[in-house]
Amino acid sequence: MHISTIFTVFAAGLALGCLQFSASEPVNKTDDFVATHEWQVLREGQAIPKGLHVRINLQTGVKEAKLLDETERGTALQSTSDDSEQSWSAQEPLSLEHKADIIEESVRKVKEHRSYAELRKTYKDFQKNFRTDGELIMQLVEQYRNFSKTPLQTELKLKLNALENLEYLLHQIDNALVFIDNGGLDDVLLPIVVNDTNTDLRISAMRVLGALAGNNPKAQIKVFERNFGSHLAQILMTSSNSAEISSALHAFGTLLRKFPLAQQRVLSTSGTQALIGVLKSADVELRNKAKVVTLISDLVLEKRSVLEASRDSPDAATTLAQYVLLEFESWLQTHGFCATLEAVLSKDYVHLIDQPEAVEQFTIAMESTDSLCQPLWSKSPSLRHALLTIRNRFSHSQDEYRLEVSQALAKVCGLFYDKNKHTEL
Ligand SMILES: *[C@@H]1O[C@H](CO)[C@@H](O)[C@H](O)[C@H]1NC(C)=O
Ligand SMILES: *[C@@H]1O[C@H](CO)[C@@H](O)[C@H](O)[C@H]1NC(C)=O
Ligand SMILES: *[C@@H]1O[C@H](CO)[C@@H](O)[C@H](O)[C@H]1NC(C)=O
Repeated sequence: MHISTIFTVFAAGLALGCLQFSASEPVNKTDDFVATHEWQVLREGQAIPKGLHVRINLQTGVKEAKLLDETERGTALQSTSDDSEQSWSAQEPLSLEHKADIIEESVRKVKEHRSYAELRKTYKDFQKNFRTDGELIMQLVEQYRNFSKTPLQTELKLKLNALENLEYLLHQIDNALVFIDNGGLDDVLLPIVVNDTNTDLRISAMRVLGALAGNNPKAQIKVFERNFGSHLAQILMTSSNSAEISSALHAFGTLLRKFPLAQQRVLSTSGTQALIGVLKSADVELRNKAKVVTLISDLVLEKRSVLEASRDSPDAATTLAQYVLLEFESWLQTHGFCATLEAVLSKDYVHLIDQPEAVEQFTIAMESTDSLCQPLWSKSPSLRHALLTIRNRFSHSQDEYRLEVSQALAKVCGLFYDKNKHTEL
């Protein structure tokens, strides 16, 4: 995934020959580039101030820069149709089959700042191995349809491979949409998530789901329409496999984040109950419980920040209306969130002492749900004992991270147990 991201940036740079640099070059104060509204050649190694329009001639390797025109502001990439050196269009798919070694090689070359002629050659080598992502995805979906309907052990490995390739490809927004338009949700993912008895396949399918819905609003809508929300909730309520719960939580989060309609529908029905069920379950490890409280906290904060932002921007009325309908905090209340979290921390604090990351996640979540749970938590001696014990242990640690967490924890304890502060509120 990371390699693919890096390459896209690099390829987009080559293909468009023109991009806006952010100031990451080493700064040479004595040799700053003074930009004007005309193109000027940049010398090798010369620092480029932030926010300029930069273009690269791929034949000669010459870089030029100028100030952005007013009309260009805010666009990260500029097309250069009038610059003759380009033969690749921006629309051409910049994609690749799994050729990790070539990718790594080219990324390494970029990092070493080889000449642009050489980079260009690498890019050409790439093209020889090109099959568009779209073709590849359609082939994988097709391959999946060809598997027999009854589960065969002999096909398992192939299926897992196909899903792994899809997970890799579908992080890209356009690829995710190609997959969906070609029936991937219905023919590949839904049957596995809903009906397959093989846990590894379900885990892989949910990872694909998480990859394709992450930061992709169009895909989120399709995933929501296929009712994946309640299927994932079902898995959360019934699974005791830690990897499965983890991938279900991830997919669940990508479906819900920044999507108030889905939050409304999914969390008002089985969703909230499923999340709290994971917190209650004695079989679920703390790491996954910490993921649950993080998701809960993020969703609570998301609504709050939209409400706050709307004060300054009246345009946001439609979004605002959707969030106003969301009563996640009261659903949390109904399903006993405060008491459940109190029980988890009171009972498991000894194990938390070895897991500062989880403590940090719980601490952040307690802070964001403080207004909801304050009445219960501030009166709980067992919770108080647990939090103070962890805080004390961490505050005597040599480890900087634990010290930081102990400070955050002290702040939260202050919210609940500092009587003076309490009465001031
Ligand atoms: C900065 O620019 C000056 C003048 O061009 C040059 O002599 C010097 O080597 C440069 N320093 C760095 C660190 O690039
Ligand atoms: C799927 O099966 C059809 C018919 O048997 C075959 O023509 C096609 O090549 C297969 N596709 C893949 C991707 O295996
Ligand atoms: C799951 O299995 C049931 C019973 O065989 C079937 O009716 C249903 O269509 C299947 N669902 C999916 C999404 O494949």
